[in-house]
Amino acid sequence: MVFNTKKIVTDQLDKTNVPEHVAIIMDGNGRWAKRRHLPRIAGHKKGMDTVKTITMAASEMGVKVLTLYAFSTENWKRPTDEVNYLMSLPTTFFSSFVPDLIENNVSVKVIGYVDQLPAATQKAVNDAVEQTKDCTGMILNFALNYGSRAEITTAVKEIAQEAAEGTLDVNQINEQTIDQHLMTKFLGNLAAPDVLIRSSGEERISNFLLWQIAYSELIFTDTYWPDFTAELFASLIIEYQGRHRRFGGLDPDKKE
Ligand code: IPE
Ligand code: IPE
Ligand code: MG
Repeated sequence: MVFNTKKIVTDQLDKTNVPEHVAIIMDGNGRWAKRRHLPRIAGHKKGMDTVKTITMAASEMGVKVLTLYAFSTENWKRPTDEVNYLMSLPTTFFSSFVPDLIENNVSVKVIGYVDQLPAATQKAVNDAVEQTKDCTGMILNFALNYGSRAEITTAVKEIAQEAAEGTLDVNQINEQTIDQHLMTKFLGNLAAPDVLIRSSGEERISNFLLWQIAYSELIFTDTYWPDFTAELFASLIIEYQGRHRRFGGLDPDKKE
């Protein structure tokens, strides 16, 4: 597959200020389908193509980590047919896309309770991780059966266990201790997204990366995920570049 998104990297995009970690809540697949009188799964199918487009656009732009919320710990509440379809998507997605990922030096990673997924889904995901493990470019990080409250609860349990066993001194627990027990630990100093984008017009976090987004810039767009384009992505990154991040301090650009 050939992706030519070079045209989107326009003069407006500041190549020296590309966010290192972009996280996206890919929302609106169902509504996209409903608007077309199609079954919800048609929206998920089209949304999968959008994932490919945005992965290539982000990689080309120089993003280092792209974290995509694909299935939440709460999404099991959906009808069985829809859940089953969503669980089949990684197999379809990776069987057609891994060669492109390798060609573009993109490695696949996953956060979430993967061991609770159907065996075939686990295999598709684990195979993709394995097949792309030597790629040194962008990390394409899928949040699959991921929930931030569950993630934090697991971290608290692990930390409490270490304290109970005496391998961890309670007085030594600090923010780094928490970071080290979250699923994003492997990202090191890239664990916190610079920008969190949500499509579909909903303006909420829906249990995504609660700890990690403490200082992320939040961008909401009305576009449904299946309609999301590389051009829209670039325009949202330009919007991010117009933000002034202060982290509680003062704006370094402003001398007053
Ligand atoms: C996002 O689209 C995909 C998943 C949550 C798996 P939705 O399926 O939530 O689409 P809407 O929000 O119902 O339109
Ligand atoms: C968040 O979207 C989860 C994913 C995009 C995977 P939802 O559609 O599940 O969120 P709510 O239910 O609207 O908050
Ligand atoms: Mg939704």
